[in-house]
Amino acid sequence: MHLRHSDADHGPKTVDVTYIVEDPESLIDDEHFTGDDPTATEHTFKAAKGEHLLEVAVENGINIEHACGAVCACSTCHVYIEQGEEQLSEPTEAEDDRVEEAPGLQRNSRLSCQCEIEGDGPIVVRIPAWNRNAVKEVPH
Ligand code: FES
Repeated sequence: MHLRHSDADHGPKTVDVTYIVEDPESLIDDEHFTGDDPTATEHTFKAAKGEHLLEVAVENGINIEHACGAVCACSTCHVYIEQGEEQLSEPTEAEDDRVEEAPGLQRNSRLSCQCEIEGDGPIVVRIPAWNRNAVKEVPH
C-alpha cells in the first residue's frame, strides 16, 4: 500500500536517525537507497522533526513493511527503539493496542509509522530480520 506521508510542515533535517537493519539484503531497495553501502547493517540519515520513523526509512530506501499505509491498522511496521525513545511522540492508546499484536513484542517495541520525531536525536532504531516477511507470511 502507498505510504501516507505526515502532513506536518517539516523543518530542516537536523536529527540523526540510525537504522540497524538486521537483514539488509531483503529490506534495502538499491534504487532508492541514499546511504553508502546497501550491504551494511547500520545506516544513519538526517531527519526533520515532525517526520515519522517509517517515512524517513522509506524515503532513504529502507523498506520497512507498512501494510496498512501508516494508519495504525496493522503491526507490520513494528521496530525496536534502541536509543532516543524520549525523542519520539508518546504512543497513543491505539498504537499500544495494535503493537501488542506484533510478533516479537519487547519493552522497546513501537510502530514506526506512529513515531513522530520530536527531539534533537540521536535516535537508533532496530529493524528485525523478520520484518521483511511480516505481510507475506500471513496465511491466505
Ligand atoms: S503501517 Fe500499519 S500500523 Fe504502521
